[in-house]
Amino acid sequence: MTQTLTNSFACPTGEPLLRVRGLDTYYGHIHCLHDVTMEVMPGSLVALVGSNGAGKTTLLQTISGLQPAQRGSIEFDGLVLASTPAHRRVAMGIAHCPEGRRVFGDLSVEENMRLGGYLRPRAEVERELQRMYALFPSLAGKRGQLAGLLSGGQQQMLAIARALMSQPRLLLLDEPSMGLAPLIVQEVFSIIAGLRRDGMTILLVEQNAHEALPIADWAYVIETGRIVCAGEGKSLMQDPAVREAYFGLGESLSTPA
Ligand SMILES: Nc1ncnc2c1ncn2[C@@H]1O[C@H](COP(=O)(O)OP(=O)(O)OP(=O)(O)O)[C@@H](O)[C@H]1O
Ligand SMILES: [Mg+2]
Repeated sequence: MTQTLTNSFACPTGEPLLRVRGLDTYYGHIHCLHDVTMEVMPGSLVALVGSNGAGKTTLLQTISGLQPAQRGSIEFDGLVLASTPAHRRVAMGIAHCPEGRRVFGDLSVEENMRLGGYLRPRAEVERELQRMYALFPSLAGKRGQLAGLLSGGQQQMLAIARALMSQPRLLLLDEPSMGLAPLIVQEVFSIIAGLRRDGMTILLVEQNAHEALPIADWAYVIETGRIVCAGEGKSLMQDPAVREAYFGLGESLSTPA
């Protein structure tokens, strides 16, 4: 497998926006993350791929302050987060779009979005709402509808829009393809690639390596709580061990044109 863990994605400052070093996270006595080290450069899309129970959600939750780390450090834009509470991390510019979407089903689309902007001044919230409706036109016509009545794909768009309402500098996305039909998965991934093109820095967690690796500037593979390899997204797709684990031996990895 590719051995280097240094994120070589070129960026103007040369400094990562997010730097995780030697992270260990436990659930009680269960040791879940082992010595996790990774970086996200500004303006890049970094994918973290791994199978069921590998520790992907736990890593995102540790970065956003929902789980405490027992060892190691998390730096965001050069600041050590240590015991910084989750809401403070949101204010600093880290937005977490959770696994399973977690929209508030008995609130309207717009109420869900406003919750995402609760730390922003009112004028900014109004402006961001308009920007989100332009970015997600399918939500614009449903702004008064209960979020629980949306399709899975629309709920995923809403969860991403809600996270973007905080005007983050780093967007954490946890398995946005989960439970969606293949065509909708492609739509969601093309939105994510579009956000990256518009300059958003993204850490994307996925079991779906087929979709995540081609759009990733850099990617990490996590297995049972350990980062086992890293490299440019497209080159990891050619890595024999990644091919065996995620695509099945002998399967062609060339993505359809
Ligand atoms: N609240 C919890 N208490 C105890 N163990 C937990 C808890 N949450 C997760 N775990 C365990 O930690 C490990 C990592 O779980 P995690 O949810 O981070 O994996 P994941 O890579 O996100 O998996 P998936 O792809 O299924 O979402 C698993 O063994 C899981 O059973
Ligand atoms: Mg998970």
